[in-house]
Amino acid sequence: MPLIELDDVARTFTIRAKTGRFRREKRRVRAVDGLTFTVEAGECVGYIGPNGAGKSTTIKMLTGILVPSAGRLRVAGVDPARDRVRLARRIGVVFGQRTTLWWDLPLRDSYELARRVYRIPAARYRANLERCLDLLELGPLLDTPVRQLSLGQRMRGDIAAALLHDPEVLYLDEPTIGLDIVSKNRVRRFLKDVNAEAGTTVLLTTHDLTDIEQLCSRVMVIDHGRLIHDGGLEDLHAVGRSERTLVVDLAEVTAPIEVAGARVVRVDGPRQWLAFPATSSAAPVVAAVAARYPLVDLSVREPAIEDVIARMYSEGTEGGPGGGAHPEEERTASGAAPPS
Ligand SMILES: Nc1ncnc2c1ncn2[C@@H]1O[C@H](COP(=O)(O)OP(=O)(O)OP(=O)(O)O)[C@@H](O)[C@H]1O
Ligand SMILES: [Mg+2]
Repeated sequence: MPLIELDDVARTFTIRAKTGRFRREKRRVRAVDGLTFTVEAGECVGYIGPNGAGKSTTIKMLTGILVPSAGRLRVAGVDPARDRVRLARRIGVVFGQRTTLWWDLPLRDSYELARRVYRIPAARYRANLERCLDLLELGPLLDTPVRQLSLGQRMRGDIAAALLHDPEVLYLDEPTIGLDIVSKNRVRRFLKDVNAEAGTTVLLTTHDLTDIEQLCSRVMVIDHGRLIHDGGLEDLHAVGRSERTLVVDLAEVTAPIEVAGARVVRVDGPRQWLAFPATSSAAPVVAAVAARYPLVDLSVREPAIEDVIARMYSEGTEGGPGGGAHPEEERTASGAAPPS
């Protein structure tokens, strides 16, 4: 049985918008619009989409904070909204935008409270805490009031708090938002560890695609409350029809190269850029060029996953017009869109 199960889940919000001096109009927003997917125990799934796509709404329904307007939702066989308290022992959640820690109290006190609320056995609590403090480098901060922690320290504190009771599922809603690259790496390493060693199922929402690349073998893309992709990160290249680029240096300046399966997208003196589908091999293109042109050197550039995702977001549908990475663009490890 899957650990997380959504069957045609929807959630609408009614908002009152001012339309005139005295007039207010009720408007309905479909934040989640017929979501169906399952997540198996032990998976680490990326859950991405543009601002307002419905990601946080989904996570809130999965934790029981929000009740779905329609559809069926189960986490570990339990309806989260109905059995919120019972489910709380089995899930952990981190909202990057908001802390669950006690603002005025030292970190230590929030953890102590979690121990009592979840009735964590003493030995297990000690072991879990020690491990979190060690891997997240929180030890020296235990006695610092939460309000004095930096964003990165607070986020690590929140992640530890979500894991002390050994949850089966960990929901992370933008856990790396606003963190510097060193903190991001530390958090990613830790989460990878939690998923691999403890077997904790992870559902991760982020706008930093490096999080996804480093942690998730599966990624779901949501837009306007609907799932528009569910599969491997690599599949996105096929879906997004992205292209790789072959950069060739010729011994002399020639007319644009003409070979089957690739097209010249840029020429600069003896250097030419040829785009070809990311899903096919570079070998035949290289062979064709080498057979007919005075080839001196070559390199292949991978398409940036950011470009593929950006195209999906802007179109809101699978696939779309070809185009692929701009030939000049190198693949970067930086984040994609800035956080909301
Ligand atoms: N409590 C609420 N009342 C009214 N509308 C809401 C509420 N919560 C969310 N929405 C609306 O539902 C839609 C989805 O919001 P949600 O927070 O789930 O998006 P998101 O994918 O998490 O976006 P982001 O990447 O910006 O965090 C948005 O249009 C938002 O304005
Ligand atoms: Mg959100």
